[in-house]
Amino acid sequence: MADAERIPGFNTLAVHAGAKPDPTTGARATPIYQTTSFVFDDVDHAASLFGLQAFGNIYTRIGNPTNAVLEERVASLEGGTAGLAVASGHAAQMIVMHNLMTPGDEFIASKKLYGGSINQFNHAYKNFGWNVVWADPDDLSSFEKAVSGKTKAIFIESIANPGGVITDIEAVSKIARKAGVPLIVDNTLATPYLCKPFDYGADIVVHSLTKFLGGHGNSIGGMIVDGGSFNWSREGRYPMLSEPRPEYSGIVLHETFGNFAFAIACRVLGLRDLGPALSPFNAFMILTGIETLPLRMQRHSDNALAVAEWLSKRPEVAWVSYPGLAGDKYNALAKKYAPKGAGAVFTVGLKGGYDAGVKLVSNVELFSHLANIGDTRSLIIHPASTTHRQLSDAQKVQAGAGPDVVRLSIGIEDKDDIIADLEKGLTAK
Ligand SMILES: Cc1ncc(COP(=O)(O)O)c(C=O)c1O
Repeated sequence: MADAERIPGFNTLAVHAGAKPDPTTGARATPIYQTTSFVFDDVDHAASLFGLQAFGNIYTRIGNPTNAVLEERVASLEGGTAGLAVASGHAAQMIVMHNLMTPGDEFIASKKLYGGSINQFNHAYKNFGWNVVWADPDDLSSFEKAVSGKTKAIFIESIANPGGVITDIEAVSKIARKAGVPLIVDNTLATPYLCKPFDYGADIVVHSLTKFLGGHGNSIGGMIVDGGSFNWSREGRYPMLSEPRPEYSGIVLHETFGNFAFAIACRVLGLRDLGPALSPFNAFMILTGIETLPLRMQRHSDNALAVAEWLSKRPEVAWVSYPGLAGDKYNALAKKYAPKGAGAVFTVGLKGGYDAGVKLVSNVELFSHLANIGDTRSLIIHPASTTHRQLSDAQKVQAGAGPDVVRLSIGIEDKDDIIADLEKGLTAK
């Protein structure tokens, strides 16, 4: 292959995609363009930007050059056509749905999702008249049965938070295709280093950049990546994309922007009007984190497997739910969708129940007891005494947060130190 045709590898893209030395100053790191707005060349230039006839910067709520580097980087790591950076993972989900849904519409979601997404779908979206229908990733026929004339999308997580569930992306994508709706995959826990949902038929990928992509527990952010695969005009059910937009002199976004129309709609209709813009400072922090994503994710996954294997042999432990473990229910799916490793987040059940969970989180030192995942540091939480405290025991069990459950997010420290810390917590008197 001639040099000009070389497609850079994942490690190279993680460091370089979207970035070049600053043309004005020569700065090698991507500058933080900490500005709200951008000067127009002249009146015609301004008019063409506002009319979507030219690409360029207007106002940081709609776009910013630092954020643009982050967008191109994540889109190229995922193999999508375009990205849109937003203020949080939840904002990414909301903007995606805003493009697809009108009041009274339905979308199908896997019931094994991050608890915050379950809340967002069950409660906040109800206020917009967007109705979620839950399906079980362990019973794919439940997705098929949930399809109705009102269905506008299917939403799943690749590796689900927190229980180590791996969803059969390819099988669900076939159901979405048959129903004529896009498949949205939250790829937060896997990152494109471990799993690339577009290779298995996803149409849109969303991320909480807050977790492993940023990777250092210092910045909240979200990303939408357009896979460029969905025909928005065919079904006539996505008016935001397939009908003339009055706010842009009658432009039809899908006709004008083709295979990156979804990302454009997210920016010029979603982000512009709903407003959750990412700070360029956070974009810079997350970009810096992504440079080491392949190194970190491999270490996270290797450490997690070692810790899960160790925990599964401990007398204090009743069960370990980590798809990387041989014999785990999701091990075959993990080998297919995340062959380099099954990520860093999983749950364990302690024989001593609630008290044992409280004892463990109270006696570890290297682990931080907090409500986050995807930090370089090892993190731990006992949902029953914290995030899920208000629920009844039955509700806790239903949510995968029974009294005995502890969630771990394994960091990139030395695995022997992580294991020694857990041993101290498990054996404390
Ligand atoms: C899988 C998953 N998706 C989405 C989110 C929401 O992201 P954010 O906190 O950035 O809004 C989270 C947060 O924990 C998550 O774990």
